[in-house]
Amino acid sequence: MTRQLFIITGASRGMGAAIAEQLLAGPDRTLLGISRRTNDALAAKAQAVGAACEQWTMDLAEPLGVASRLQAWLDDLDGEDFAAASLINNAGMLTRIGALEHCTSEELSAALRAGLEAPLLLTAAFLRATASWPGERRVLNISSGLGRRAMAGQATYCAAKAGMDHLSRAVALDQAELAHGATIVSLAPGVIDTDMQVQLRSADGEGFPEQGNFVRLKEAGQLTSSRDAAARVIAYLGRTDFGASPVADVRDA
Ligand SMILES: NC(=O)c1ccc[n+]([C@@H]2O[C@H](COP(=O)([O-])OP(=O)(O)OC[C@H]3O[C@@H](n4cnc5c(N)ncnc54)[C@H](OP(=O)(O)O)[C@@H]3O)[C@@H](O)[C@H]2O)c1
Repeated sequence: MTRQLFIITGASRGMGAAIAEQLLAGPDRTLLGISRRTNDALAAKAQAVGAACEQWTMDLAEPLGVASRLQAWLDDLDGEDFAAASLINNAGMLTRIGALEHCTSEELSAALRAGLEAPLLLTAAFLRATASWPGERRVLNISSGLGRRAMAGQATYCAAKAGMDHLSRAVALDQAELAHGATIVSLAPGVIDTDMQVQLRSADGEGFPEQGNFVRLKEAGQLTSSRDAAARVIAYLGRTDFGASPVADVRDA
């Protein structure tokens, strides 16, 4: 029993794509990616190394269907085949940048469902379906410094990440009550050179007083590459003391 299972949301681009690519390290890996688009490079990497890779094109803003599909998919696997199973809730979504009231109700609802309801439902489905699996089970929620420090212009994102942090604290307490509970961490990954940063830098400055900070971070070369950020996140996921602190920052590791 040496196989490792990884489920990762937001594997189509950005840091999630880099994490998924690095997790596909050999034939003992099984990876499921969930995003609205597929990532051809991942399929090619999986084929090259002989790993199993599946990609679902689904919108996490409609999370009930994704969670029930994940539960059914896991129920069909034999948990005895896996030495370890991990769920990485990586996908994240900004709203239009500006004050809360300038976004439509539809935009706000979609961002909160993708950013908080989806990780919650996927975590529940994963814990339920793998409860009797003999291997180690880990949930890694990709949070943000903005879950811990509020920022104008992105209230929904801040709320989703703060919710993700507290969700992880509470689930860690649930799991600690079990004989073979899973471990869970909500991890801030640093500031990474992805589309999300482009969105922040190119926003209209109105209602977004910190926009200049994002421009300066890029100009000063202070963004971490997706590849380096992914390596740090994977190293964190592999720590022997994973879960000791349910809310963490990769920069403190
Ligand atoms: N970049 C940073 O500086 C930074 C800092 C702190 C925390 N983070 C967090 O790190 C994680 C990765 O961020 P990133 O910078 O790599 O973001 P990104 O470049 O914007 O990529 C986001 C990923 O999430 C997927 N996604 C977004 N909305 C989705 C939806 N409704 N349904 C399904 N998939 C969806 C996207 O795939 P599709 O478009 O194909 O659906 C994409 O794969 C996020 O949780 C983010 O909040 C990032």
